[in-house]
Amino acid sequence: MSTFKVGYLIGSLAKGSINRLLAKALVRLAPEHLEMTELAFRDLPIYSYDYDADFPQVAKDFKNALAAVEAVLFVTPEYNRSIPGGLKNAIDWASRPYGKNSFSRKPAAVIGTSPGAIGTAIAQQQLKSVLSYCNAPQMNSPEAYIQFQPGLITPDGEVTNETTEEFLRGYMKDFHAFIVRVYTVLPRNL
Ligand code: FNR
Repeated sequence: MSTFKVGYLIGSLAKGSINRLLAKALVRLAPEHLEMTELAFRDLPIYSYDYDADFPQVAKDFKNALAAVEAVLFVTPEYNRSIPGGLKNAIDWASRPYGKNSFSRKPAAVIGTSPGAIGTAIAQQQLKSVLSYCNAPQMNSPEAYIQFQPGLITPDGEVTNETTEEFLRGYMKDFHAFIVRVYTVLPRNL
C-alpha cells in the first residue's frame, strides 16, 4: 500500500479551536499510510504581490513545507458564511508567485466543524471553489459537515460519539484512496 505525506491546514487561529480538535481526531483516525503534518500559517504577513520578487523567509518556509507534502487537508471553520481570512491569506501566499502555485495537481480535501447545524457547508463550498481555481484535484465525496456538540472530541482528539468516529475514520480512508487514484493518473515524477 502506498504511503503519502499529507499536510493539514487548520483554518482557525483560536486557542480553543474546535477545528483543531477535529484535526487531532483526524490525525488519530488516519490510516497508517498517511503521514500527517500540520502546515502552520499563523505568522504569514498579509499577502500582496509586492512580495512576489522576494518572498519573506516565513513565506518561503511555508511554500517549502507545502512542496514537501503530497496532499493537503483543510480543516476549517466558517466565519461569516465564508473562509476565515487567515486561511485565505495562506492560500494566496501558496498560490504565488505566478507560475509557482503550490497547490497545482496536489490532491486536496476539505472538512470542518461548527456548532451550527450546517457544519461549515458554505465555507467549504467557497473553499472548494478557490481550490478549483488553484488546480488542486479535490475529493468530492464524502462531504463532511460536522456539527460540533460540547465534548464531541476530547482535548487529545478522541471522538466520544461512535458514529462520528466511524464516519471520520472512513473519511480518512477515502482520502487515502483518492490520493492513490490521483497519483495513478498524474504520476508524481511528471
Ligand atoms: C463564527 N461562527 C460561525 N458559525 C457558522 O456556522 N457560520 C458562520 O458563518 C459563523 N460566523 C462566525 C464568524 C466569526 C467571526 C466567528 C468568530 C465565529 C461560529 C463558529 O462556528 C464558532 O466560533 C467555532 O468555534 C469556530 O471554529 P473554531 O475557530 O473554534 O475552530
